[in-house]
Amino acid sequence: MKKIVFLTGAGVSAESGIKTFRSDDGLWENHPVEKVADICGWYENPLYVNQFYNMLRSQLQTKQPNLAHRLIAQLEEKFDVVVVTQNVDNLHERAGSSSVIHLHGELMKVCSSKDKEDVLQHRELTENDLIVKDGELSADGSLLRPYIVWFGEPVPMLDKAIEEVSSADVVVVVGTSFKVYPAAGLIHYARKDAQLFCIDPNQTSAPTSLGITFIKKKATEGMQELMKLMKF
Ligand code: APR
Repeated sequence: MKKIVFLTGAGVSAESGIKTFRSDDGLWENHPVEKVADICGWYENPLYVNQFYNMLRSQLQTKQPNLAHRLIAQLEEKFDVVVVTQNVDNLHERAGSSSVIHLHGELMKVCSSKDKEDVLQHRELTENDLIVKDGELSADGSLLRPYIVWFGEPVPMLDKAIEEVSSADVVVVVGTSFKVYPAAGLIHYARKDAQLFCIDPNQTSAPTSLGITFIKKKATEGMQELMKLMKF
């Protein structure tokens, strides 16, 4: 079975009403990125950060997967599909994708702030249990924190993502500006004979030397075009 790896960014969720990152000059949902998406922001003001992520979680409940998420999931009928996403939302999973690697963490998970990767202290939040109270502690007595990879932190899923990309027959990038590393470098791990596509309505910093076929459309339209190219 042919293997397709999708590398997705904020653009795949844009048509679900989730804001992308670089459209508003360093603001994320009207909050300065260095306060809410950087490990220093957490050390400086964990309560502010906790409240911001509580807000994002509540907001996520009002958003639905769009056609692009659903078509990516549908491709599993004919292909081995792996999604490597920079997004922290759960729209790929809710659309039915069964293999999703979250490079930058997951909004619906919290963890110990002393040992982020200790799975025994990971807690999945649900629609009815969304809010982390200010000052709420993990089992080791440290503050519970969002399971998010902030600027200044390692990317634990990177090796797994590299493994997936380097064994793909087809790699499709959807809706990322190629501005944030190491995610932006993943495409370079594709096999020389892999087919490469990039779906984005705007000019991005994608490398031009790799023979990528650019589909300059929004994710939902671009995915429909890709389905035809994949003879689906
Ligand atoms: N369909 C497809 N692509 C779109 C759409 C759409 N409807 N709307 C916008 N885009 C594209 C933009 O043209 C841009 O290239 O999505 C991309 C979004 O880029 P960014 O906002 O930079 O988001 P992303 O690349 O996912 O950011 C990477 O930066 O702040 C960090 O951790 C955060 O994961 C995030 C990382």
